[in-house]
Amino acid sequence: MHDWQTITAKPEETRDLGRQLGRLAPPGLVVLLAGELGAGKTCFAQGVAAGLETPADSPVTSPSYALLNIHHGRLPLYHFDLYRLARVEDLEDLGYDEVAEGDGVTLVEWADRLAAPLPAALRVVLERLDADHRKVSFTAENAAGEELLAALGAAANTL
Ligand SMILES: Nc1ncnc2c1ncn2[C@@H]1O[C@H](COP(=O)(O)OP(=O)(O)OP(=O)(O)O)[C@@H](O)[C@H]1O
Ligand SMILES: [Mg+2]
Repeated sequence: MHDWQTITAKPEETRDLGRQLGRLAPPGLVVLLAGELGAGKTCFAQGVAAGLETPADSPVTSPSYALLNIHHGRLPLYHFDLYRLARVEDLEDLGYDEVAEGDGVTLVEWADRLAAPLPAALRVVLERLDADHRKVSFTAENAAGEELLAALGAAANTL
């Protein structure tokens, strides 16, 4: 499957989608999260963390200044938020390439702020439809992303 869209009617549903992704995530997965302020990127990331069984005492938040937060679950979760990224070199200083090529799961909020797109298996775009509804669009960028999307679509049908 190359792309798949769904609409969520409350934050818990967006979290559930993320949770399914976290459960299915293979080592080395990179997912880019795009969408305006308050679209639900962090909400989705919280679900991914839950699906990876990261500990509750390490909650996923919108990092106010941190560009990277790491959570240790079934696989390590590297949660980047590039909203405040000043220079692309800062991403290199954070060791982005090593992280993204490693065996963890990498989630990147605001990756679309970068002039050159980051390589990823999956791109997720969240759009605010109204106060409670979000359109969530997934696009697979490679074979691993397609496989994951097929599994996610199948799992979401049983939510
Ligand atoms: N269906 C929904 N899915 C996700 N969030 C929703 C939904 N309905 C309402 N919301 C609300 O929208 C907000 C989403 O906030 P969140 O921090 O996840 O957005 P964000 O995209 O990470 O924003 P930012 O770019 O500021 O980090 C929350 O307050 C959440 O309760
Ligand atoms: Mg956020």
